[in-house]
Amino acid sequence: MCLTFALWGLAGLFLLPLSSSSAVPYNNYRKVTAFPPPHTTGLQIHDPSVIKVNNTYYAYGVGPHINISRATSLDGPWTNIGSLLGNKLSVIEKGDRFMPWAPDVIEFNGTFYCYYSVSTAGCRDSAIGVATSHSPEPGAWIDHGVIVQSGTGKGSDVRPFNSSNTIDASVILVGNSAYLTFGSFWTGIWQVRLNKDLISADWKDPASLDAVQLAYEPRPIDPGGTDPNPLCRDETGAHPVEGSFISYRKPWYYLWFSHGKCCEIDPNKLPDDGEEYSIRVGRSTSPRGPFIDRAGIDLVKGGGTVVYGSNGHVYAPGGQGILRDGDVDILYYHYLNRSVGYAFNDARMGYNFLEYDADGWPVAV
Ligand SMILES: *[C@@H]1O[C@H](CO)[C@@H](O)[C@H](O)[C@H]1NC(C)=O
Ligand SMILES: *[C@@H]1O[C@H](CO)[C@@H](O)[C@H](O)[C@H]1NC(C)=O
Ligand SMILES: *[C@@H]1O[C@H](CO)[C@@H](O)[C@H](O)[C@H]1NC(C)=O
Ligand SMILES: *[C@@H]1O[C@H](CO)[C@@H](O)[C@H](O)[C@H]1NC(C)=O
Ligand SMILES: *[C@@H]1O[C@H](CO)[C@@H](O)[C@H](O)[C@H]1NC(C)=O
Repeated sequence: MCLTFALWGLAGLFLLPLSSSSAVPYNNYRKVTAFPPPHTTGLQIHDPSVIKVNNTYYAYGVGPHINISRATSLDGPWTNIGSLLGNKLSVIEKGDRFMPWAPDVIEFNGTFYCYYSVSTAGCRDSAIGVATSHSPEPGAWIDHGVIVQSGTGKGSDVRPFNSSNTIDASVILVGNSAYLTFGSFWTGIWQVRLNKDLISADWKDPASLDAVQLAYEPRPIDPGGTDPNPLCRDETGAHPVEGSFISYRKPWYYLWFSHGKCCEIDPNKLPDDGEEYSIRVGRSTSPRGPFIDRAGIDLVKGGGTVVYGSNGHVYAPGGQGILRDGDVDILYYHYLNRSVGYAFNDARMGYNFLEYDADGWPVAV
């Protein structure tokens, strides 16, 4: 997720400043909301995906060949146990094949599925691929390659891939159906049906994808880019939603996403307050949406209730997921520490337990 902004950081200097008429501010949440401090883990990671197998936690994150770390407590100590793809590049021949982004790992019927992305910072010439294994540990993963792609390659002209950025995958299984939710900037977050094998989508039959748009930020955070490559600019401006994840707690499906700037943050020129990453949510009684925020605004109309944002040392939390641990839901994410640094490698994993208020809205505690 986060890497989308890498180009922006550089390009920002040449762009117009945000117009003062830029409609509704992204948030004034800081005026009304205080966030609790995170539980710290010491784990250096970007875009974590955490699962618990027996009594062991596994964290997958951006890193050469997809980094895998293991711990017996979320608080650590975490040990790096190797990489998911071994020493191999992703079999997908585009983007960052060496260091795939934003893994999402699920387990179904004894098989572990790792959905990952390959892309180039700031561009939507991207793909979502998948690898499978019978173990969450390194060693036995098989890379099956592309499920869907945008920008170039087979199926990239099919809706919704023709207007979106196929990165930041997350998969939810509901009954006999599996849904792949993805997207970053451009037209935001989309969802399509996966085939029963969980490693393919039937893009040759677009109707079978049953695509729905689930979240979008209509208010661009910056004016349109000027990159000569049309896949590396959005003339309508940068629409900063990405990193989606769907959790379920009866009777609601919650769509979580990251909003704002994640990466290449210049400490001498921080984004305006509220323009950095924050963790937002909407909910629906269906995994297919529509997802509505606490104020009643549809996420495709720019809705999204902020559940966690910068506070104290914590800066720009995002890249989140939800882990159901026993009966408890845990919101985990990466964040920067203002007193440590704003570089990519400075990001660490933090987490908060979730409680649900009387109306069923999640609150980080
Ligand atoms: C978890 O426990 C089950 C049952 O003992 C065992 O079959 C399985 O291999 C274990 N998984 C891991 C990753 O250790
Ligand atoms: C992979 O994870 C280990 C353990 O957290 C960390 O030391 C290492 O820097 C990570 N690599 C990357 C590229 O993030
Ligand atoms: C689960 O795995 C077993 C053994 O591989 C297989 O026979 C069965 O069909 C699978 N079940 C489902 C629902 O995929
Ligand atoms: C994407 O494809 C759909 C269906 O063919 C088409 O209606 C739509 O205009 C296309 N969008 C773009 C941005 O090309
Ligand atoms: C941030 O870094 C400071 C200085 O190292 C440390 O004392 C503090 O606990 C850190 N806070 C978090 C949330 O990581």
